[in-house]
Amino acid sequence: MAKTELFTGLDVGSSAVRVVIAQRQIGVDGLHILGAAEGPADGISKGTITSIEDAVSSISATLEKVERMTGVPAEHATIAINGTHITSIESHGIVAVAKADGEIKQNDVDRVIEAAQAVAAPPNYEILHVIPRSFTVDNQHGVKDPVGMSAMRLEVDAQIIEGQTAQIKNLQKAIYRTGVSIDDMVLAVLASSLACTTKRQKDLGVAVLNIGASTTSLMVFEEGDVLHTKILPIGASHITSDIAIGLRISIDLAEKVKLEVGTANPAEVDKHDEINLHDFGGDELVLPRHQIADIIEARVEEMDKMVDRELQAIDRSGLLPAGIIITGGGAKLPGLIDIGKRDFRLPVSIGFPIGYTTAIDKVQDPQFTTALGLASWAADASSTHGLFSKLPAFGSVNDTVNGMRHWFKSLLP
Ligand SMILES: Nc1ncnc2c1ncn2[C@@H]1O[C@H](COP(=O)(O)OP(=O)(O)OP(=O)(O)O)[C@@H](O)[C@H]1O
Ligand SMILES: [Mg+2]
Repeated sequence: MAKTELFTGLDVGSSAVRVVIAQRQIGVDGLHILGAAEGPADGISKGTITSIEDAVSSISATLEKVERMTGVPAEHATIAINGTHITSIESHGIVAVAKADGEIKQNDVDRVIEAAQAVAAPPNYEILHVIPRSFTVDNQHGVKDPVGMSAMRLEVDAQIIEGQTAQIKNLQKAIYRTGVSIDDMVLAVLASSLACTTKRQKDLGVAVLNIGASTTSLMVFEEGDVLHTKILPIGASHITSDIAIGLRISIDLAEKVKLEVGTANPAEVDKHDEINLHDFGGDELVLPRHQIADIIEARVEEMDKMVDRELQAIDRSGLLPAGIIITGGGAKLPGLIDIGKRDFRLPVSIGFPIGYTTAIDKVQDPQFTTALGLASWAADASSTHGLFSKLPAFGSVNDTVNGMRHWFKSLLP
């Protein structure tokens, strides 16, 4: 088996480390997942490293699991980056077309994207992604692919996604210490979007919401382009804390209660339905299940409001034809979809992985979309005709001066 045909996606989340090893299938679209593993994440909080030593041991333990499963050592991986330090800004670049006859070449496109990166980024931030949205060729707006067109001037509107240098470095350090080299770093919600949406949904207009343990990330797509990105500092672990505070019980017990009898939709709970905390390992205490649903609903409503405010800011509240796709572990909460439909006034569904074949059942889960999307990203980057092939003008992950810059070709038709 050729080594280049294997792609490793490594998602270091706040609650869990997940890794998948994927293989490209000849003549078939989509990847085959050979191995997958998950393990608890220590030393990581809110998507950022809080203890390198603990992070290294939890990442190593998970990598060992997948290596045992596949018999293939994970030597290099595409990794996810997440955290509330990540921000996105709109940027505009302008260049004069180089060639005398005014025909736009790939080189002009590279230069204009480079120009868009010259925004005044804070000194302690580095660029993770540069996502061109549309080009302007002389005065013609909304051009998707300017190569070959004639013009004097080329402009681009792009979204720049950047993160704090220190946080990025710490994650890289932890990964390198496990002996794995980093092929690429990809924003977690971008990777999960790749794994759980179709091209058609992204063309029509869709929002992907990844509800993790301590972050909720939003990425809005329209006409195949990324329209908006936001990482909110609130996640499914806040629901657990609310239950712990509301019922005056420990976090561990609250998590058990949430996973076993939690729902975001009080309307689906029978008024007479009761639970006994003793059944979950707590003290003897009987309470109505409705009470737990009420606590959860309040938090989910608040999260939905925060997300809807983001949609309002880009004039898409209630207006995305392909609706909202919720992925990540938080998506598995019963009742979340019903409450989402009500709050967003849009179609809402759970984002399961699409288009992967595997004998490993556990990857068919919204919690695995980020790791799977990373493998897809890697597979794409390695193929010359890939949707996400990198332009040589952009530095690699190891190029610390230029940071990590990518131009997704898929965002162009
Ligand atoms: N069946 C379920 N019902 C309700 N909540 C669930 C369920 N399964 C997982 N969760 C919640 O999902 C969260 C973990 O999600 P996920 O694994 O996507 O997070 P993460 O990637 O580790 O975190 P982050 O993306 O914030 O760094 C936990 O808070 C957990 O309680
Ligand atoms: Mg996550």
